[in-house]
Amino acid sequence: MFKFFKPRRAVFGGEPLTVDFHSHLLPALDDGATNEEEALRLVRGMMELGFRRLITTPHIYRGNYNNTRETIQSALERFRKLLLSQHIGVQVEVAAEYFFDEYFFREVELKTLMTSGADYVLFELPFNLKPPMLEDVIFKMNVNGYRPLLAHPERYIYFQDPKLRELKRLKQSGIFFQLNTMSLIGQYGSRAMRTARALIREGMYEFAGSDIHREQQLPVLKSAMQNDYFLQLLSSGRLLNAQL
Ligand SMILES: [Fe+2]
Repeated sequence: MFKFFKPRRAVFGGEPLTVDFHSHLLPALDDGATNEEEALRLVRGMMELGFRRLITTPHIYRGNYNNTRETIQSALERFRKLLLSQHIGVQVEVAAEYFFDEYFFREVELKTLMTSGADYVLFELPFNLKPPMLEDVIFKMNVNGYRPLLAHPERYIYFQDPKLRELKRLKQSGIFFQLNTMSLIGQYGSRAMRTARALIREGMYEFAGSDIHREQQLPVLKSAMQNDYFLQLLSSGRLLNAQL
């Protein structure tokens, strides 16, 4: 009689991730936490998942989320006071998630972008159409002393190619990639999931982030962080979150 054994789960080492980079925690600044109560529940949930430093990144997207360095900084100060009053011992810092538009290009020129760590700038692209001047702006960012960090490359339709041709080409232009951890288990669809897994196999991510907006996403994030691909990424030693 044949016996069927379940294949052994791969065992991966690696330090747990304690620094999250990319989220929408600050209340009422964008499409993330809508009020202080929700923001506090998100922070508590992130702490339960092991995070101790949360570098949150409100959208700066003219016409949709008209944030500036000032609106973000003052929201951070208010939120830090709230955390203190609630005796919540977590470090919250800010950067931004810039949309790739004229406002962003101007800030690149003026060298007034919000950064994290060694001048990393998080930015996102339109989802359906690759902007023609992408490589030029990446070049300009590098020339101006920034490290361009593309948010969730796996989510853009025009990059969702099993062979990763466009993303491999783009990588040559001096850019860093940030995984949305929840992509690994299909939170943004199967094509984003397959692309994220392929990018991990190719060793192309330097950062992982929650990109969390809603408390309903906390259980999704938790299970994504138990996924073998995520554990493989952790154990690869490639993640630079702790250096931010
Ligand atoms: Fe985001």
